[in-house]
Amino acid sequence: MMSFDFKKDPLDNFLELFKEAQMKGIPDANAMALSTVNSENKPSVRIVLFKGMIRGGFSFFTNYDGRKAHDIENNKNIAATFFWSHLDRQIRIEGTVEKITHAESEAYFATRPRLSQLGAWSSHQSEKIESFEVLKNKINEIDLKFKGQNVPCPPHWGGFRIEASEIEFWFGRSGRLHERYVYQKNGTTWNRFLRSP
Ligand SMILES: Cc1cc2nc3c(=O)[nH]c(=O)nc-3n(C[C@H](O)[C@H](O)[C@H](O)COP(=O)(O)O)c2cc1C
Repeated sequence: MMSFDFKKDPLDNFLELFKEAQMKGIPDANAMALSTVNSENKPSVRIVLFKGMIRGGFSFFTNYDGRKAHDIENNKNIAATFFWSHLDRQIRIEGTVEKITHAESEAYFATRPRLSQLGAWSSHQSEKIESFEVLKNKINEIDLKFKGQNVPCPPHWGGFRIEASEIEFWFGRSGRLHERYVYQKNGTTWNRFLRSP
């Protein structure tokens, strides 16, 4: 029994399921747990927001000097997972990641609220700070610097795109007989199979 109309390209399936999650008002439907590995082979995971497909890759935006970006510089392998508890669905993505172009980052940056834009200039992501006060002062400083102007996209901030090599669609079912539909990329072809729950 197949519970979903699977397409040849799993990205089409993902976009359909993602749209459904958004339409049904699933909280933080675009939040994904993103896992990277550092130069000592130590993994770390954090939530980031999926911001749409860029050239067929799952995009997210972050600070290029932060911990996850350093991990990525060292190791392009990445994994991301969406979990929509109200739908009992999980989507797992594995692949490699690369920076998008600065022009692509600028286009998204321009849509962000001004405070988030100022934050991108002010926060040295993942670094120790003296106090929250220091950060707030920095934000005020940057606010003054760009007074009356659009805030430009900082060179140390931008997006990444995940080129998936495996995508698993997990549908929770009773008795833990969950359905797991896996797509694996072989060259340019996607192969699909079932995985035991
Ligand atoms: C719901 C939610 C959404 C988030 N979205 C982002 C995001 O899109 N980009 C980002 O850099 N951090 C985001 N964060 C913060 C990250 O989880 C994390 O704290 C930050 O990126 C620093 O991670 P790092 O030190 O491992 O690089 C989000 C956190 C939450 C809880």
